[in-house]
Amino acid sequence: MTSGERGLTGRVAVVTGAARGIGLAIARRLVADGARVAVADIDSATAGEAAATLGEAAFALTLDVTSEEQWAAALGNVSERWGRIDILVNNAGVAGRSAPCWELDAAEWRQVLDIDLTGVFLGCRAALPAMIAAGYGRIVNIASIAGKEGNPNAVPYSAAKAGVIGLTKAVAKEVATKGVLVNAVTPAVIETEILAQVSAEHIAYMTSRIPMGRTGKPEEVAALVSFLCSDELTFSTGAVFDLSGGRATY
Ligand SMILES: NC(=O)c1ccc[n+]([C@@H]2O[C@H](COP(=O)([O-])OP(=O)(O)OC[C@H]3O[C@@H](n4cnc5c(N)ncnc54)[C@H](O)[C@@H]3O)[C@@H](O)[C@H]2O)c1
Repeated sequence: MTSGERGLTGRVAVVTGAARGIGLAIARRLVADGARVAVADIDSATAGEAAATLGEAAFALTLDVTSEEQWAAALGNVSERWGRIDILVNNAGVAGRSAPCWELDAAEWRQVLDIDLTGVFLGCRAALPAMIAAGYGRIVNIASIAGKEGNPNAVPYSAAKAGVIGLTKAVAKEVATKGVLVNAVTPAVIETEILAQVSAEHIAYMTSRIPMGRTGKPEEVAALVSFLCSDELTFSTGAVFDLSGGRATY
C-alpha cells in the first residue's frame, strides 16, 4: 500500500506509549500511511529515539497519561506545531504484577487502573473538544482480550481493560453525530517488552488459549488500528475489534 491510500494524508495523530512496542508500530504505520504523528510517552529519551527513526513526519512528546496538566500541555504543543488533532490512539499501558488478587495491595491496583483506564479517560477528555469543533476525529483505544474474558493473576489489568471497553462504547454514543468515531481493539498476547512484566507461566497460559497457536506481532495490531484511524472508517463506532488469533468468539 502506498502512502495516503488509506486517507491519512494531512491527518495529525497522537499515539500514547509510542516509544516502543505496539505504540511504536502504530506510529510507524500511520506515518507510512501519510499521517504526521506525535510519539507520546512517559519515557522521553526512548520516545525521542523512536521519533527520530520516523523522520520529519514525527516528533517526540513527553506525556504521563495520568496527568491532566501534561495532557493539556501535550495537545497544546501538537496544535501549535501542526494546527489540528485528527487522531488519538490511547495505547499507553502497563500489565501490573502477575499474582492472585488477594496478594496484591491497593496501591498496585490503583496504579494499573490509573494508567490503563483513567489515562484513556483523560486522553479522550483532552482531545474531544477540538475534534467536536472540527467535526472530525478518530479515537482508538487499545484494550485487551483480558478485558473481555478476564485473565487470572491479572485482576487490575482485566478490570481496567474491561473499563476501556465500556468507556469506548459510552464515549462513542456521546459523539456519534459529530464526525468523531471512537473504537477499541482487543489484542491477545503480542510480542513486546510488556511481557517482561509478567511471569512465564502467565504468558504460557495466555498463548495456550489462542487457537492460531502463536503470539501476535505489533505490526498486525498497527494494520487494524491504521484502518480505524482512517477516512475509510465511516460506519463503525463504539465497536470492539478483535485481534486474538481466534481466542475471542464474540
Ligand atoms: N503486548 C501484549 O501482549 C498486549 C496485549 C493486549 C493489549 N496490550 C496493550 O497494548 C498497549 C501497548 O502495550 P505494549 O505491549 O506495546 O507495551 P510496552 O511495555 O512495550 O510499551 C508500553 C509503552 O507505554 C509507556 N507508558 C507506560 N506508562 C505510561 C504513562 N503513564 N504515560 C505514558 N506512557 C506510558 C511505556 O513507557 C512504554 O513505552 C498497552 O495498553 C497494553 O495493555 C498489549
